[in-house]
Amino acid sequence: VHGVPPSLSAKVVGSFAYLTVRDRLPTILTKVIDTIHRNKNKFFEEYGEEGIQAEKQTIGLLSKMRNELQTDKPVIPLTDSLQDAECWNQYLQKHQKLHGDQESVSWFKSPWLYVECYMYRRIHEALWLNPPISDYDVFNEGKTQGFFESQQAVMTICTHLEGINSNIENLSKNQLFEHFNKLLQVSLWGNKCDLSISAGQDNSQKTSPIDSLVSLQPLILVNDSNTVWSTLISAQTHARSEKTTVRVDIVLDNAGFELVTDLVLADFLVSSGLAHEVHFHGKSIPWFVSDVTAHDFQWTIQQTMAANHKCMSKIGYQWKSHLKDGVWSYHDHPFWTQPHEFCDMAADAPDLYANLQGADLVLFKGDLNYRKLVGDRDWDHTVGFGTALQGFGPAPLCSLRTLKANVQVGLQPGQAEKLTSHEPDWMTCGKYAVIQFYSSKAE
Ligand code: F6P
Ligand code: MG
Repeated sequence: VHGVPPSLSAKVVGSFAYLTVRDRLPTILTKVIDTIHRNKNKFFEEYGEEGIQAEKQTIGLLSKMRNELQTDKPVIPLTDSLQDAECWNQYLQKHQKLHGDQESVSWFKSPWLYVECYMYRRIHEALWLNPPISDYDVFNEGKTQGFFESQQAVMTICTHLEGINSNIENLSKNQLFEHFNKLLQVSLWGNKCDLSISAGQDNSQKTSPIDSLVSLQPLILVNDSNTVWSTLISAQTHARSEKTTVRVDIVLDNAGFELVTDLVLADFLVSSGLAHEVHFHGKSIPWFVSDVTAHDFQWTIQQTMAANHKCMSKIGYQWKSHLKDGVWSYHDHPFWTQPHEFCDMAADAPDLYANLQGADLVLFKGDLNYRKLVGDRDWDHTVGFGTALQGFGPAPLCSLRTLKANVQVGLQPGQAEKLTSHEPDWMTCGKYAVIQFYSSKAE
């Protein structure tokens, strides 16, 4: 299409995409292989000789893939019979046709977004083809560890939330707005904690998530939180007059501390009456190392309930009852673990698109969601967010993202140049963030 810039790709030597495919992805794969190997005895205890065979074969498949990646071989079709295999293979065929040869769909020459997603799908395939261990989540250990290492910060944020909730009826609109802003920013910075960017090293939060907000403020490059707030307020007014409810959707990113910050924000939204319903969207297979699956979601709430800390466990029970009462609900859809840009959602996953249209506000957490929102393309930094969304807009939406990939739109003229002159890697160092809003209604 005229005017749409090319996809980011590892074919640009030295780019962040290139360094990711060359260094970060093989490191992640090696960790996956090590984890499976380390759990050999566990597989033996559970499944006997069959477990050992499965461990060996899975590792064989993964080593083969690592070799394909490192020698820049063409991306090959999936061989499992899972429901979404067809869609992946069609995508591949389409690209082969478009570029006329097989070589063009190699690991380094394909769009970065596609190959990076593909790697996680192939990890899933390798396990799936070995039935006794097909449901094994190779990233579970890291996610669990990240949660426990953030315990102090989790307690702090739960205590903070409990403080707000205990007095919530007496708060003025301005006070509510202040709290909303803080918790939105806590959820934003929670996105610093992901295991994919550090290739599985660390995703814990060790400092107080509340105290650090003021010093982090200048690092928010685009801050549309006022518009997010007014969207919620007008949804509330509308709901009152129409006798309907306000629904906020959160498209989740990482498990661990980030998920806790999302749950805290969601709790505040319903406790304050700003929203009546929150729909969470997670991943149906282990994804980008630390992304939330249904199991992580349930587990996190269980752990919060079971904590040896009064506020934390009280809040955990509250979350459980939000789920039981249907005030909160968890959803997953195969589209979230496909390589598509979100502008394809209406055509490729019309049911999901229609579902999101029922929300008054959709919050997209994290870097990968941002890349998918803007198509992971080499946009000029001053291009409007609405333009980069290329027609995607099921409902008013807001991205809460710390920058970890070299794409960023919607900046002021000169803003990017200024950042580059001080800090050439501002888009990938994970230090900066955006709260970026878009609604087609505003146009
Ligand atoms: O390569 C680093 C990376 O994997 C990016 O590709 C990806 O966008 C990001 O880390 C994951 O971040 P997040 O968890 O915020 O989506
Ligand atoms: Mg993630």
